[in-house]
Amino acid sequence: MADLSAKLAGRDFLTLQDFTAAEISVFIATARDLKARQKAGTPHHLLAGKTLAMIFTKSSTRTRVAFEVGIYQLGGTALFLSERDIQLGRGESVADTARVLSRMVDGVMIRTFSHAEVEELARHAAVPVINGLTDYLHPTQVLADLMTIEEHKGRLAGLKLAYIGDGGNVAHSLLIGCSKMGMDITLACPAAYEPREEILRAALANGAESGSRVRLVRDPLEAARDADALYTDVWASMGQEGESAERRAAFKGYCLDDAALAAARPDVIVLHCLPAHKGEEITEAVFEGPRSVVFDEAENRLHAHKAVMALLMGNTD
Ligand code: CP
Ligand code: NVA
Repeated sequence: MADLSAKLAGRDFLTLQDFTAAEISVFIATARDLKARQKAGTPHHLLAGKTLAMIFTKSSTRTRVAFEVGIYQLGGTALFLSERDIQLGRGESVADTARVLSRMVDGVMIRTFSHAEVEELARHAAVPVINGLTDYLHPTQVLADLMTIEEHKGRLAGLKLAYIGDGGNVAHSLLIGCSKMGMDITLACPAAYEPREEILRAALANGAESGSRVRLVRDPLEAARDADALYTDVWASMGQEGESAERRAAFKGYCLDDAALAAARPDVIVLHCLPAHKGEEITEAVFEGPRSVVFDEAENRLHAHKAVMALLMGNTD
């Protein structure tokens, strides 16, 4: 593990596709270790004196708090930079922003619309860049999801995850993450809201290596059958508010409800990246019910993001 940790230092975290299954396991193991240290009250100032710049052009509760509290617990400091406050919002280029921040901070986390912009930032930054969500991917979320599933099930490989709903950023990162880790993943999406072709192709290629089966179906109950984990996300993501009515019509029936629960294994766990729109993609009863682990999942954002920062921006000794 020490060898693999060293290989992670200085890297960007833009997509789980850039990491091997063994490296993803190191992130998860480190997150579990940091969680145990935090619960035991053992100081773990692995990033003492280090600073993370956090650029947000979209709202956030979990991601912002997890990174900000996380680096504080690691002995470092975070800077919250909303688009309204920094010159990027007034037209300063991504490349110049990357080069300036690299002279002053030890890592940059960014949440924004365009994935290409995050890739551009990473190309020009001399410090690690962490993708805190784009319209295309949400890899830090899925790292915490994998950690949560492993905590509850004791393993990842061989499990079946069913995702019901929009084939957007969270679905994309789940496809990549599950297929890397040898988990079967079935998505049920309405026509026109399926995941992007190249993501499916990448997941199928990962699956050929890891033994994971990747499937896309139309029927939510077919996806849910015998699932160990059920997952959903909002019907309209940030930036798609204008499409809400149209999406509500298209996604009717794509709901994590009692019928989906009944089709899954009796010991199924229910995940949701949050925020949730109860009564749309998930029923109140399932959200609040005994199979739901959504708040464990939300808490694990803290531990998983601490692992990402510690491994990319410092060391874990
Ligand atoms: N799941 C997630 O990323 O939540 P926030 O939008 O609150 O950060
Ligand atoms: N798909 C959602 C995820 C929020 C964490 C969005 O992009 O708004």
